[in-house]
Amino acid sequence: MGQKPKSETICYCNCVDRATIENAIKNGANTLNKIFDSTTAGVGACGGSCRVKLHQLLDGYQKTGQFPEKLSSKIKKK
Ligand code: FES
Repeated sequence: MGQKPKSETICYCNCVDRATIENAIKNGANTLNKIFDSTTAGVGACGGSCRVKLHQLLDGYQKTGQFPEKLSSKIKKK
């Protein structure tokens, strides 16, 4: 009771959770490269399969000032 839910893992290669990425973005990581540098997410052995989610977090925050609740691992087609 009263426990915060554990933050979901976004980057499995480097074990980086959502809270770490959100904090980095709030603290000024305003490009994917800055997120890579400050969290190590997105630069793991798989070649960056989590970058789709990193992009959604960054884009959502930059457009609305909030992080999207749900993240998709698929790239949206236009
Ligand atoms: S899951 Fe993030 S780089 Fe592989």
